[in-house]
Amino acid sequence: MAQDAIALLESDHHRVEELFREYKSAGDPSAKFDLAQVICMELTLHTMVEEEIFYPAFARATGDEEMLEHALKEHQEVKDLIARVPAAENLDGVVEAIKQHTLHHIEEERRGMFAKARASGMELATLGGRIQTRRAEVAETVQNA
Ligand SMILES: [Fe+2]
Ligand SMILES: [Fe+2]
Repeated sequence: MAQDAIALLESDHHRVEELFREYKSAGDPSAKFDLAQVICMELTLHTMVEEEIFYPAFARATGDEEMLEHALKEHQEVKDLIARVPAAENLDGVVEAIKQHTLHHIEEERRGMFAKARASGMELATLGGRIQTRRAEVAETVQNA
């Protein structure tokens, strides 16, 4: 039985929140750089499954295009920041900006989109299965790259 889509997305949120805490307590620059890369990777995978699978299903179920547009705009802001990581001179500053944007966005998803999705009667278990399959496919491609 597949996990509910929202539970899956929330477990990604928790993982990335934990990674931001690890980054904060990491000491040496190479450990920080490695953690920054893991954070970017997790966020890239997460926003991808949201944009490919969860968000379109949400828009179909609720018709709330405005909430969708807003979430996509916030994803784009984080993607722009992620693109700055590899060559960042002030990595702490860039990671802090990613963290602020991400925590804000997660909070909005929790209170807004996810609450509305639950109330809409969306097929969350079916979507959860699709998200798991897609994540596994992409993770494999990345590992073999
Ligand atoms: Fe999102
Ligand atoms: Fe999310």
